Amino acid sequence: MPKSLKSRGGEEELQCGPVFTVFAMGTRMTFVTEEEGINVFLNSKHVNFELAVQKPVYCTASVPKNIFFTLHEKLYITMKGKMGPFNIHQFTGKLIDELHEQLGNLGSHGIMDLNILVRDLLYPATVNTVFNKGLIPTDKGELQEFYQHFETYDEGFEYGSQMPEWLLRNWSKSKKWLLEVLEKNITHIKAYKSEKDNSVTIMQAVQDVIEMEKSELIPNYALLMLWASLSNAVPIAFWTLAFVLSHPDIHRAIKEDIASVFGSAGKDKMKVTEDELKKLPLTKWCVLEAIRLRAPGVLARKVVKAVNIMNFTIPPGDLLMVSPFWLHRNPKYFPEPELFKPERWRKANLEKHAFLDGFIGFGGGKFQCPGRWFALLEIEICLILMLYKYDCYLLDPLPKQSDLHLVGVPKPEGQCRIEYRKRI
Ligand code: HEM
Repeated sequence: MPKSLKSRGGEEELQCGPVFTVFAMGTRMTFVTEEEGINVFLNSKHVNFELAVQKPVYCTASVPKNIFFTLHEKLYITMKGKMGPFNIHQFTGKLIDELHEQLGNLGSHGIMDLNILVRDLLYPATVNTVFNKGLIPTDKGELQEFYQHFETYDEGFEYGSQMPEWLLRNWSKSKKWLLEVLEKNITHIKAYKSEKDNSVTIMQAVQDVIEMEKSELIPNYALLMLWASLSNAVPIAFWTLAFVLSHPDIHRAIKEDIASVFGSAGKDKMKVTEDELKKLPLTKWCVLEAIRLRAPGVLARKVVKAVNIMNFTIPPGDLLMVSPFWLHRNPKYFPEPELFKPERWRKANLEKHAFLDGFIGFGGGKFQCPGRWFALLEIEICLILMLYKYDCYLLDPLPKQSDLHLVGVPKPEGQCRIEYRKRI
């Protein structure tokens, strides 16, 4: 049953069946594209998340495999609790303050690349919330150095997770630079005390768990946390704004919704409460729709005992691969899959924290992304503040997505300038 699959860029067409194996650099990767295979991927006891990611974790953050295994479940439960739907609103106020502060640097009018604008807003807002102020430098030169090293590390992450470090000199330099910065900051990150309550930051909660086993690995885990918290959320914020601004009807509808909750303009440092967010479902739908269309390329699990999928036997040792990017283009789940249609999310039971059937943008099964509610919250707030405070227009068409990486959310290819003007 051959089937044609479009590449991310949409140009090439591959012919392949519903189960196919790619053999590369000594690893067998078996891709499954249909329901039966996806169910095995998400639910079978015979496929394992930790075994699939232990090598990438070792290569990219130098966390030894035995420590990773000992700590993974405890750390996952801690992160899931800290950023789960019942605790997430403790971060709303902090994220809003941080974003107001960063928006203050934009000035009243300007033209810039949307990618840079989103980075300048969300890198500091995210890091200052997940870690603590001080890790992201405020001095312009030092900040550029930080961005440059993080971007080199992020760009090379996929290669760094598979290839020896000595083959990737620049990437390795940036990895070491980031580890050193994190090491220097550990005491400071640990010392943070909330002025409002006794709550600890996400990184402090993670640190407490690592300390029980191997405190010298805190910078390494901090590097993983830094990457996990920025590498997908920031490009998704870009795509959400870019999709909204290139769909005038949706742009208008969001602005009307925002005006109906906050008035038309004037509240420069406005707060956004949980109730107000509930009155703006379209903003959440836009973020989810952007994730659907710009989902991570692949997810992986290691097969530990042979599994049968559509009359094929997948042997132990294979990596079982699923592509959210492909699944999200299946018209059975998402009619007119190539269109940006936020209203399709009306059918999702988001009140009960459920996404749409067929949506695996945050992964799935036991170890679905623990930061998903945090990501949705920060991108929603970013969109609301940006569209409330500024009139925004795109000066370029929606860019293509880069085909360069399979891991994580695709980045935009080429520039996409935004013009913004502060509303009185
Ligand atoms: C739109 C933004 C995001 C997307 C699309 C995304 C997507 C994902 C995906 C696909 C996975 C792998 C899940 C699997 O294999 O089933 C994952 C894991 C993870 N994500 Fe996210 N993520 C996002 C934002 C965030 C944020 C903001 C944080 C932290 C603040 C975060 C923290 C993590 C962590 C720590 C893991 C590893 C979990 C583990 O070790 O079990 N993510 N994410």
